[in-house]
Amino acid sequence: MTTSTEQGAATEQQLRDTMVQKLIEAGAARSPRVVAAFRTVPRHLATPEVEPAKTYEVETATITKTDEHGVDISSVSAPRIQAMQIEQAAIEPGMTVLEIGSGGPNAAYLAEMAGENGRVVTVDIDADVTARAERFVAATGYRNISVVTGDAEHGVPEHGPYDRIVVTVQAADIPSAWVDQLTNGGRLVVPLRMRSMTRTVAFVRDGDRLVSDGFEQCGFVPMRGAGENRMRLAVLHDEEGAEVALRLDSGHAEPDTEALRAALRSPRSEAWSGVTVGGEESKEHLDLWLTTALDNLPIMAAKVGARQRGIVAAASPIGLPALVDGGSFAYRTTRPTDQEDRYELGAIGHGPDGRKVAERLVEEIQAWNDGHRSDRAHIEVYPAGTPDDRLPAGRVIDRPHTRVIISWP
Ligand SMILES: C[S@@+](CC[C@H](N)C(=O)[O-])C[C@H]1O[C@@H](n2cnc3c(N)ncnc32)[C@H](O)[C@@H]1O
Repeated sequence: MTTSTEQGAATEQQLRDTMVQKLIEAGAARSPRVVAAFRTVPRHLATPEVEPAKTYEVETATITKTDEHGVDISSVSAPRIQAMQIEQAAIEPGMTVLEIGSGGPNAAYLAEMAGENGRVVTVDIDADVTARAERFVAATGYRNISVVTGDAEHGVPEHGPYDRIVVTVQAADIPSAWVDQLTNGGRLVVPLRMRSMTRTVAFVRDGDRLVSDGFEQCGFVPMRGAGENRMRLAVLHDEEGAEVALRLDSGHAEPDTEALRAALRSPRSEAWSGVTVGGEESKEHLDLWLTTALDNLPIMAAKVGARQRGIVAAASPIGLPALVDGGSFAYRTTRPTDQEDRYELGAIGHGPDGRKVAERLVEEIQAWNDGHRSDRAHIEVYPAGTPDDRLPAGRVIDRPHTRVIISWP
């Protein structure tokens, strides 16, 4: 006879198997050891307040804490993002791994990867989060995970050095503690924000510099504590459910928000590139190209309601690159072509110089298509204060701790 507990366990295993199948199909879990880790960890135990099936949805992050303004400050990340970062980290049995930003399940995946001779240290600035992670570790019985409460800006020197550091919070900079506590040749996987654009970058440490070895598109809650460096918001339309705002990074000029609000209300102009993309094709490389080629390119975030009400022509949950020039701006968009599932890239402009700004954005889309479409950006990170003549050629982003250089072949 099958008991209800056995039935429950079978259902949970089915949920994990279905999740793993989808992770494989999405290309997020590729290596057998990552697949095995995701088949094993009972991630639903971290969030007992949530329906188990929900916690196994590959694209769903489980929000565990919001601040007084309703902004998400902690979550258990979506399985697809976790698998992608763990693949990037290339963890071998016996390694010591630091996870920055806790939750429970991701530390357990890392512990599966490091094996019983390896160690995982997970740190979070928020005692509520580490208490949840502790409960999860106790419930699942992982003995090689240490949970630490603290600001990861300073790393966790007492348990280091680390062969791998996996950062699960958006960072605008790389504190020197992370580089110092990483073994030479070790890998740091970090959702790094580069002029509004965040990519989870896999870096390899080479002395005092970090050299990229691939990156993926992602979204994470921003870092808090001593390293907090949030983007500024310029709200262009504040009707509920149809909000439109520009997210600006340091280095972007102070916007003339009133003029840009008026611009959004004015008729739009369009510019089209003749460059087409497939419906499922990622624009992550194009967008990184645009952000390296153009100054003053924040992200335009718009709620779906803004598109439905015709305020903007396009909306994306992670935002669209928008070029700002004084009281005018233009954002990247697409339109259908007469070929099935192919779309033409273009730009929508607003404001007195809206057409000119849209055309400028389209010129860069064409430059990417003509010279860089199959290229991948290369990213290096040097300590702040490194003289220009020691840096490789490329776009330099200066942050308090580092100089980040993005270059294209
Ligand atoms: C996306 S969640 C972590 C998800 C987790 N890795 C999981 O199991 O999926 C990001 C976490 O980073 C934490 N965080 C933010 N700033 C931090 C800091 N300076 N030091 C340590 N943790 C920080 C937040 O409190 C939040 O819990």
